[in-house]
Amino acid sequence: MWNDLRPIGRDPESNGYRRFAWTGADADCRTWFQEQAETRGLTYETDRNGNQWAWLGDPTAGDAVVTGSHLDSVPDGGAFDGPLGVVSSFAALDELRARGAEFTKPLAITNFGDEEGARFGLACVGSRLTAGKLTREAAYELRDADGVSLPEAMEAAGYDPSAIGADPERLARVGAFVELHVEQGRALDLSGDPVGIASAIWPHGRWRFDFRGEANHAGTTRLVDRRDPMLSYAETVLAARREAELAGAVATFGKIAVEPNGVNAIPSLVRGWLDSRAADQDTLDTVVTAIEKAAHDYADRHGIDLDVVRESFTPVVEFQHALRDELGAVLRERTGRDIPVLGTGAGHDAGILSESVPTAMLFVRNPTGVSHSPAEHAAEDDCLAGVRALADVLEGLACR
Ligand code: GLV
Ligand code: MN
Ligand code: MN
Repeated sequence: MWNDLRPIGRDPESNGYRRFAWTGADADCRTWFQEQAETRGLTYETDRNGNQWAWLGDPTAGDAVVTGSHLDSVPDGGAFDGPLGVVSSFAALDELRARGAEFTKPLAITNFGDEEGARFGLACVGSRLTAGKLTREAAYELRDADGVSLPEAMEAAGYDPSAIGADPERLARVGAFVELHVEQGRALDLSGDPVGIASAIWPHGRWRFDFRGEANHAGTTRLVDRRDPMLSYAETVLAARREAELAGAVATFGKIAVEPNGVNAIPSLVRGWLDSRAADQDTLDTVVTAIEKAAHDYADRHGIDLDVVRESFTPVVEFQHALRDELGAVLRERTGRDIPVLGTGAGHDAGILSESVPTAMLFVRNPTGVSHSPAEHAAEDDCLAGVRALADVLEGLACR
């Protein structure tokens, strides 16, 4: 499975993955998923929001145990963020069949669409739509950098967007959702464990800062006559770092658009996107408010107009304790050791679904902690330990 996926959407220069929603690379990943389902005799379907499902047992029976993740990537992403969870789900099913497990509940494997939000700016679009956290109307307004709307992109990829929206009837048939994911930090490396269990996801959001000044000639415009939005933007980036450090939070400007984007032109517009996250809501609010205030102060000083728009927000997720404890107990019994329980600053479909269904996550050790980069890695032995852990957990949930 890993070999099949390896070339899909990989950029030969960066070695990073560019698997953006509803593009050719995404279509190839989706075809791969469907083939994996059909090869195993599973019932394949795409839901109204374009998420893929592969069912063992009756999809309508209810109390289904569902596992999976996503196959899309950030720009120049690594191989593991998302695909490790989907590949491990199929591998865990193979392992359970080899064990002769008898399923008493339906089991499904999923690929949630557009988890990273790399193309339309909003993360977890597939799971948000399904959980009713993104309305059909708002989804219809999403556009990529070329102005292509989400429904246009879905249509171009051969999907009918007209029925997108909340799917409570589907979620009501799910008894538990478990997502396995590569760890995006070094907690497991430091504790010496191949696998961990998630406790919580930090609240996080994305804010767009539009600094507008005046385009002018880079050679002939006196410094005192300039209204250069790049200066206010640069000062805001430094303020974000400072405020995050003070509060023990994180804040990142990782994406920027400049107009007219000429070497010899003072910009008329600098648009920067802030991603900020913290362990609790109050801290996050404090950090973002302080960054906004600093940005307005700098903008005023340079004669720059500033608009700040919150493009998305995900509140703190505390995974259900009962399911988390159940996973811990199953894994302790199978491995003879206590499994570490970790919080994370990364967003996941599991977090989006957690208000609608009992949800849990497993993490697999990442020796450097690097993620959202081609350097993202997990050792094969650890991936196999992850598969065994997921199989143990699924057996505990679906075979009793
Ligand atoms: C997704 O990986 C996110 O945390 O942004
Ligand atoms: Mn990610
Ligand atoms: Mn992910």
